[in-house]
Amino acid sequence: MEYILFAIIAYLLGSIPSALIVGKVGYKLDIREHGSGNLGATNTFRVLGIKAGIIVTAADILKGTIATLIPLLVDADIYRLIIGLFAVVGHTYPLFAKFKGGKAVATSGGIILGVSPLLFLSIIIAFLLTLYLSKYVSLSSIITGVVTVIVAVILQEDIGLIIVSCALAIFVSYRHKDNIKRIRNGTEPKITWM
Ligand code: G3P
Repeated sequence: MEYILFAIIAYLLGSIPSALIVGKVGYKLDIREHGSGNLGATNTFRVLGIKAGIIVTAADILKGTIATLIPLLVDADIYRLIIGLFAVVGHTYPLFAKFKGGKAVATSGGIILGVSPLLFLSIIIAFLLTLYLSKYVSLSSIITGVVTVIVAVILQEDIGLIIVSCALAIFVSYRHKDNIKRIRNGTEPKITWM
């Protein structure tokens, strides 16, 4: 019974729209009406700048990480990944923002951080490297999802983590379907600062 409660708490935690809150409270604007319109860290960097972007990145990662820590309250280690997934669902389909949320990248990273800091470190390296080479945040997010699975296998991580990494890689790719279209027709914005 307590796992249902944990799942609900994780979903509600994930539902906290940090990009929307930072935009409205700090800058008096609705980030959904600017940039890509996405309620995520990338669009926050794009529209509100580096300070707001860092805050939203940290908050979105933390949502996933905290969710994986909730089951430890009752010493239920094996449920951590599953409860973490509910935070990703909340982040992507948030109760507090009309079910239109982000693209699952930072909160998925937060889950990985919660269960395997070493794998998280490799994610950061893969993301920065692909971003440096491609200049597309969206493409880097998709490639990093795939790299995470490969590195999880190389590091001989738990089979549960490998399966969840696969599921997250597929879900992150699905959430970037509009970005993929824009990359193909040449309208996806590239970063200019790297
Ligand atoms: O994590 C989201 C990022 O990969 C793309 O965001 O705003 O460019 O659609 P955006």
